[in-house]
Amino acid sequence: MGKLFVKKPLSLLLSEASESEKGLKRTLGAGSLIALGIGAIIGAGLFVRTAAAAGQHAGPAVTISFIIAAIGCALAGLCYAEFASMIPIAGSAYTYSYATMGEFIAWIIGWDLVLEYALGAATVAIGWSQYLNKLLEKALGFTIPYEWSHSPFETSDAGVHGIMNLPAVFILLLLTILLIRGIEGSAIVNNIIVITKVSIVILLILLGWQFINPANHTPFTIPADAGSVTMHNGKVINYADFWFHGIPGVLRGAGVVFFAFIGFDAVSTAAQETKNPKKNMPIGILVSLAICTILYILFSYVLTGIAPYKDFLRQGGEASVAYAIDTYMHGYSWLSTFVTVAILAGFSSVILVMLLGQTRVFYSMSNDGLVPKVFSNLHPKFRTPYRSQMLFFGFVSIFAAFIPDSVVGDMTSIGTLFAFVLVCLGVIVMRKTNPELQRAFKTPWVPVVPILGALFCITMIVSLGIENWARLIVWLIIGFIIYFGYSVKHSKARKL
Ligand code: ALA
Repeated sequence: MGKLFVKKPLSLLLSEASESEKGLKRTLGAGSLIALGIGAIIGAGLFVRTAAAAGQHAGPAVTISFIIAAIGCALAGLCYAEFASMIPIAGSAYTYSYATMGEFIAWIIGWDLVLEYALGAATVAIGWSQYLNKLLEKALGFTIPYEWSHSPFETSDAGVHGIMNLPAVFILLLLTILLIRGIEGSAIVNNIIVITKVSIVILLILLGWQFINPANHTPFTIPADAGSVTMHNGKVINYADFWFHGIPGVLRGAGVVFFAFIGFDAVSTAAQETKNPKKNMPIGILVSLAICTILYILFSYVLTGIAPYKDFLRQGGEASVAYAIDTYMHGYSWLSTFVTVAILAGFSSVILVMLLGQTRVFYSMSNDGLVPKVFSNLHPKFRTPYRSQMLFFGFVSIFAAFIPDSVVGDMTSIGTLFAFVLVCLGVIVMRKTNPELQRAFKTPWVPVVPILGALFCITMIVSLGIENWARLIVWLIIGFIIYFGYSVKHSKARKL
């Protein structure tokens, strides 16, 4: 028990990082990192969750939800950047906290990051499946049957029950194979996809602007007397309920669209594969975050201007963007097909980075002895943690196949927010415990920025509601069982 807060010495961390020729290869520069960031950031959050947040909670004021989430991310991002520039080693928040707040907190964060990356990948894979069906319908006039493209917890308008989401598992398999073959090839594919994705968002903003109907933006927040809506999957939304209108709705909307920002921190998980990480890490994290924030605010303004928010619940479903174009932007059905293809590619790059981030976190945890060795076995030829990649394919697939996107999406958000809170606090702790250490990037106005960052994230955690808190607690309890059952016996830091 006395060693619960044992810290991994920074000198050891840094010397491990410098032994890069033995571990992962250093190939990524600032440009690739920004692309990696945008690749991870723009995805189902924007193209699926925006419409859900607008329809259920925030209405057109989802733009404000985006601003709140962006401020929280920017503040946490500033904290991440200090850590990432100081401790340039794979593992992200997990590694940082091991050096600052000790093993137990590090375990909690590492365990939490599974929610972020693994469940994030599952959520986006589910969104991918919905847009694939949209594309098949447009191009070939058929769709994968409802029961094979939805979880058992969903029922169609016609009363068909889902069995499992096969296309979601398919895309996860494809990307796992790509990742096993190596990050270099993955980065090139990612760059191409990122350019397509950003172009499509800009095109939608520019073309959609002329279809904004000002009536859709009034009133800006959902009024308490907006009535109720039965969603396309049969669930009833009652706008009189607390988190479903007005300011609380906007806050809950922030918790939901926060998902759209997840991924900028994934940049830091590639620290060990980065050239000159002290300089490139902060650039990668902050620039990708800034670009996405501007695009999101404009995009959500246009989307909620094109279609009334209730439409997103009734007819839009998960492929709401394609729906809005088809229904309200007359003469642009080509755009909707193009957007759908770009979204499929865009989602793939998000899943790619999430799966990559997940295995890299477990790579570090395995090197530290907190999870079994199998997670740090590198492929003899490709130098990638291939066994870990395959195990996580299995794990993520279970969620993607059998759980609805709203549930895994909110679990992803709450897990990530919790990790962000700990990272913000970690900066303050580190300034006190190791003031002498060189920091290539320093978080400005400490402790104001970290404290505000933590407060914004806690507000979003609160807004996500009791069901999600309960899920987070159950997840943490499972983590504690593994920690006390396995990790404490195998931890290397305890044996130093
Ligand atoms: N930010 C990522 C997305 O929106 C997870 O899909």
